[in-house]
Amino acid sequence: MSSRKRYEELKKEIFKHDHLYHVLDKPEISDYEYDQLYSELLEIEKSNPDWVGQDSPSLRVGSNPLDFFEKAQHTLPMLSLSNSYSVEDILEFDKRIKKFLNSESPISYFCEPKYDGLAIELVYENGVLVRALTRGDGITGEDVTANVKTIRNIPLRIPSDLSRLEIRGEVLMFKKDFKELNAAQEESGENSFANPRNAAAGSIRQLDSRIAAKRNLKFMAYAPGSVEGLNYHSQSDFHKHLQQWGFRLPGQHKKQPLSQLCESADEVLEFYSAIHKVRKELDYDIDGIVIKVNSLSLQQDLGLIAKSPRWATAAKYPPEQATTVLEQIVVQVGRTGALTPVAVMKPVKVGGVTVSSATLHNQDEIDRKDLRIGDTVVIQRAGDVIPEIVSVILQKRSPSSIPYLLPTHCPSCGTRAEKILEEAVLRCPNRHCPAVMKEALKHFVSRKAMNLDKIGDRLIETLYDSGLVRKFSDLYQLKKESLLELERQGEKSAENVIASIETSKKTTLQRLIYSLGIRFVGEQTASLIADHFGSLDSFLSATDEELLKIPEVGPKVCSAIKDFLQNKEATTEAKHLIELGVAVQQPRRKSSGPLTGKSFLITGTLPVKRESAKEFIESNGGKMLSSVSSKLNYLVAGDDPGSKLEKAEKLGVQIISWEDLQKLV
Ligand code: IVH
Repeated sequence: MSSRKRYEELKKEIFKHDHLYHVLDKPEISDYEYDQLYSELLEIEKSNPDWVGQDSPSLRVGSNPLDFFEKAQHTLPMLSLSNSYSVEDILEFDKRIKKFLNSESPISYFCEPKYDGLAIELVYENGVLVRALTRGDGITGEDVTANVKTIRNIPLRIPSDLSRLEIRGEVLMFKKDFKELNAAQEESGENSFANPRNAAAGSIRQLDSRIAAKRNLKFMAYAPGSVEGLNYHSQSDFHKHLQQWGFRLPGQHKKQPLSQLCESADEVLEFYSAIHKVRKELDYDIDGIVIKVNSLSLQQDLGLIAKSPRWATAAKYPPEQATTVLEQIVVQVGRTGALTPVAVMKPVKVGGVTVSSATLHNQDEIDRKDLRIGDTVVIQRAGDVIPEIVSVILQKRSPSSIPYLLPTHCPSCGTRAEKILEEAVLRCPNRHCPAVMKEALKHFVSRKAMNLDKIGDRLIETLYDSGLVRKFSDLYQLKKESLLELERQGEKSAENVIASIETSKKTTLQRLIYSLGIRFVGEQTASLIADHFGSLDSFLSATDEELLKIPEVGPKVCSAIKDFLQNKEATTEAKHLIELGVAVQQPRRKSSGPLTGKSFLITGTLPVKRESAKEFIESNGGKMLSSVSSKLNYLVAGDDPGSKLEKAEKLGVQIISWEDLQKLV
């Protein structure tokens, strides 16, 4: 087969699997098989750069940063919606429409969620996604094509030969991705986002599309832009087209349908309240439903009022706000020593959930809202998840109240807190601060770290306070007898704790490195470090030069790792863990196969990801080594091989390519 034909075929295959995975949630192949297709495509593109078009799946990972976003006009203005806030408003909307149309008979409405994200217009020419614009002022938007092409549930090519087709929708971040992103942002000392909408919008406004590519954004399509030549008669018809073109429809996998054709105002009200009930369980934030007259010809009859269509309205849910009293501000000390003020409030129900605390982030935030202890405050569950204080009711403020200032010293150990330039937070610099240590221990035992699953936060507090555990290694020296002396520790639970400590000893290098709590070293970075060094010892003796070779380790992360490596106490502690029986194993289960008994090492860039190559070797029984020695059977060399190649040649190790390796299997 000619490689051009193969290239087109690969694109089709990749589109198909993207759709199965990201739209239908029904993957048919493993990630490994997908990576294989993808790297074959990249190989072909490398040798034939002029074939790379606007629909190449390689655009999904982002491309070189832009200097600025170009502006572009929308073919048709992007309108806004009138708002309704209650059942009465919705009935009023229905009445207005009937009056305008001079009709008594029920109207059919198409209803769906009002997504709380960033509106985007996609422009397809002859089926290929050529442009994506933000709403802007409705007339002119910004060209954010490179960012939008990284969103994996947006088809880069659709089965339509219309010369031009515009589709509008909302870019969203799922709640779980938002939480993960914020945790990672905090871990890397960067600002967190207030809610998923800001995170989605912030990602699309990045000039570097490689950042957007990492953010796991989603797109929900909901409206046509200019669609000349498209045969459709109603909003529900349009949604059928959307589905055929490969877009994800709301709630297509859920019991409660999230979009519905309602045959009367009463049915709309039922839908409005049904969605209100499931709102909290949705993967993403919504702020209401959108009600649209279904028939296109009625829509045209109804036309616009000012900048909103008369035929649609956004029916919002009552804001989930409440007032309560700010009783106290406590200062929490985090694992990195960061001092975070937290509001303690008189418990109050907001949107069905009792709220009694909210983070206040830092002094700047407290100053901006002028929060004082004793104030009556308005709280709200922002973005449906995190409660926050919105404002103070000044009329209710006591004349004797005074502005709140964060303490100058760590509330746990009394050390003077430091403010690091350009950071909004105060930190306790004491490495032995009890609060910092407790948090470090909680991190150490957590599920994604060493996973001592029978030791929860409460037990860590008790173990620390009793003096039994003051550092990581103490955990591995715990005896059942000493546990039994603690309050509320029964025979059975003490046994469980000891067993979970034992089980946790079998771990991976990635987990061990992650659990050490080195600043800026999250799970991902830990995994790259583990892959790179292969053993704790070689990590502990890493040089700057070596560290900087690791993808994602830049100067900032490198210097944090260096701080750790130069801290004698910390490195001794890490080694002590190994002495106490913590054993790092190869992460993947070993299988036997054609490569059993043979050892491998990879150097240079292979046509597939390193991880996939390792998985391939190990799943066929091969063993990965971390350095060249006479024990090594094969060095798999890709492009730009490193010094390992030379060394292997000297030692007479057999050097093979990725293709040779596949032949071996
Ligand atoms: S239809 C005539 N459907 O709401 C407007 N809009 O206030 C056609 N939005 O800028 C838009 N979810 O960003 C429509 N299911 C939905 C929506 C939706 C969110 C946003 C959209 C628009 C804003 C209007």
